[in-house]
Amino acid sequence: MNVLEDRIQYYLEKRAEEGNLRTLKKQVDKIDFCSNDYLGLSASTWIKQQVEIDYQQHYAHLRKSATGSRLLTGNSDLFEETESLIANFHKGESALLFNSGFDANVALVSTLARKGDVIYYDEFCHASILTGIKLSEATAIPFKHNDVGHLKTLFHQNPNGASFCITESIFSMEGDKCPLKELVIFCEINTVYLFLDEAHALGVVGEKGSGWAVNEGVEDKVFARVYTYGKALGAHGAAIVGSGELRQYMINFAKPFIYSTALDTHAVLSIKWGYNFLYNFDKQIDRLNYLNKKFYEILTINYPSITVLGQGPIFGILSPSNQEAKRVAAALQNDGFDIRPILYPTVPKGQERLRFILHSYNEEAQIIDFLHKLKLYLE
Ligand SMILES: Cc1ncc(COP(=O)(O)O)c(C=O)c1O
Repeated sequence: MNVLEDRIQYYLEKRAEEGNLRTLKKQVDKIDFCSNDYLGLSASTWIKQQVEIDYQQHYAHLRKSATGSRLLTGNSDLFEETESLIANFHKGESALLFNSGFDANVALVSTLARKGDVIYYDEFCHASILTGIKLSEATAIPFKHNDVGHLKTLFHQNPNGASFCITESIFSMEGDKCPLKELVIFCEINTVYLFLDEAHALGVVGEKGSGWAVNEGVEDKVFARVYTYGKALGAHGAAIVGSGELRQYMINFAKPFIYSTALDTHAVLSIKWGYNFLYNFDKQIDRLNYLNKKFYEILTINYPSITVLGQGPIFGILSPSNQEAKRVAAALQNDGFDIRPILYPTVPKGQERLRFILHSYNEEAQIIDFLHKLKLYLE
């Protein structure tokens, strides 16, 4: 019997039959309505230059690789200075860097919650949060997307342990924001620990892109926030922002932090100078906000029949099936737009969509052209 080979074959064939077999594609030279590089910082020459100058002037003694976990040989002034910068930027007490947003969410949830605890989480939370929940062995209760009323009906005081609520600032597939102030009030009244994934809000929402919690003035009411650097910051890695005690606890107990080689020197420098960019320049964020408004204007005036989810820069254009989402995306790709279909099982059946992302470097004419073509292909 070839148990594993049969299993692999079965599931791959099933995926292919359902039309949702995932394959790797190379980057394409098309109009970018797809990447998470909202502000174009991954191509910023200013950041590249500052990283190089800073490295030569202050960190040339560091090896390229961290050479080990932070608890062994991997720690340096660069990590600690960058973490102070992150904490200050997001008005938090402390920050701790992780190798990715996936790692940070898995670490946060699985290290803090345990058997006997109850986790209430938005049904559309990212896979990294769901993985952390599974590992934690806590009781997991999903509430309807952004529905605080539903959360209230599900909630029961937990005499056996702690209760958590987990949500995202801007949802990665829906593009809408969570009702943060309402959630904060609910959590305060009921002694629920609130975790907020700010992956898509950093660089996009709030003054200088400091995120949804700071924008809403509730940063000290959120127990832990996760900021990821592979999106608007144009870098790689992530940080958990919270109290000094939380940081110390994670250093002591979070396995993805303890048992993994830390980020390399240039990755940390890219994060540091990504933040410095946000501190110093507003132009890209203003431009993104302007395009967001324009997109809505054009959509409501010229294309009222197209239903779009989200408040930007992420938008979802719903499609009735995997096949239909793939058909429309292929036609748009053929016209030179990089836009991808989001298929079941990444989103629930019936919620398949085209995911459309705006960037500060997109042009109004491209948006107009895109919407014109989209309408044709949807008909
Ligand atoms: C909401 C959310 N959280 C976390 C992550 C993971 O971040 P990273 O890409 O840094 O692993 C993502 C990335 O897709 C995300 O969309």
